[in-house]
Amino acid sequence: DKGEFRHYMMKEIYEQSSVISACLEGRISETKVLTSCFGAESEFLKDIENVHIVACGTSYHAGMVAKYWIEDLAGIPCSVEVASEYRYRKVAVPKKTLFLTLSQSGETADTLAALRMAKELGYLTTLAICNVPSSTLVRESALTLLTNAGPEIGVASTKAFTTQLTALLITSVAIAVENGLSAEKEQELVQAMRSLPAYINDALAQDAHIKVIADRFANKHNALFLGRGTMFPIALEGSLKLKEISYIHAEAYPAGELKHGPLALVDEDMPIIALVPHNDMLDKLKSNLQEVAARGGELYVFADKETDLHNEDNIVFTEVPKVDRILEPIVHTIPLQLLSYHVAVVKGTDVDQPRNLAKSVTVE
Ligand code: F6R
Repeated sequence: DKGEFRHYMMKEIYEQSSVISACLEGRISETKVLTSCFGAESEFLKDIENVHIVACGTSYHAGMVAKYWIEDLAGIPCSVEVASEYRYRKVAVPKKTLFLTLSQSGETADTLAALRMAKELGYLTTLAICNVPSSTLVRESALTLLTNAGPEIGVASTKAFTTQLTALLITSVAIAVENGLSAEKEQELVQAMRSLPAYINDALAQDAHIKVIADRFANKHNALFLGRGTMFPIALEGSLKLKEISYIHAEAYPAGELKHGPLALVDEDMPIIALVPHNDMLDKLKSNLQEVAARGGELYVFADKETDLHNEDNIVFTEVPKVDRILEPIVHTIPLQLLSYHVAVVKGTDVDQPRNLAKSVTVE
């Protein structure tokens, strides 16, 4: 039932505040991550010296964010790979490596095949972050952390992605605690997680504004998404959403790569979507944006007002709430979902059932 919404995708975008609460429920206290959420065998957390994350599509983008979190907070190496590559190569597995899969459906053929292969390779254990409790992936993994997003009907993943990120944040902090994260820092991160549902609602409040921007977008044939750090995988996810439901060709680059090639694409016809959270990379990103503006590129900036980008003549500005650094990738996802949704509606595509795509990719 779509309720008051025209499409499942929009209903699912608007559910994100409540499903993120559901994902956090019982997994954190006021001060700590509750490691019991991984099941009885949570001692595995003490032994992890490496993490391999394997997934497909949007779930892979969630894994890319987690790499930043795990290496930053826990200080242990983490690699991320798409399942269709992982399963067909010889993988070197360092000792005491956690094998972590991400999947909304738990039925993605390549991800399941990767898990089955991994089980023969001597990993420490296997953990699935998944939305479907009865799925094959959950049944075949040693440990599970459910995302609790509820059924996702729209083919383009929205709430499944932000709850995956929430579950990955819980997991990253749990691993970090065993690797020297202070109780004070843990409490700070847990407090940030508690404020996440409210920030999601703040981000959704830009809906009407984004709808107006979407009108300008609908006649574009290309778009370039830019971000640095955890915003790079969010740029990839934003570009995937735009491709999937509005059929506009979009690419995403780490902003620092502009000069190494993609700058050649920039002219008056190329919209640039820049994700500009207020952190220590702000000045670097601003100079990347100047490079783009100097070539006539049309700039769409998603940032908070303190970045001082909202009064620039040549920038179409969308406000994103200023949040703790750790929450930036989750909160910045919301306006990009809204943008691709509204562009698709303007173009009149089948939002919930894009051409050529299936919700669950159970064949290779
Ligand atoms: C994109 C999308 C897909 C899925 C991918 C993996 O919006 O939904 O890219 O993320 O097919 O699916 P799951 O997460 O079910 O393994």
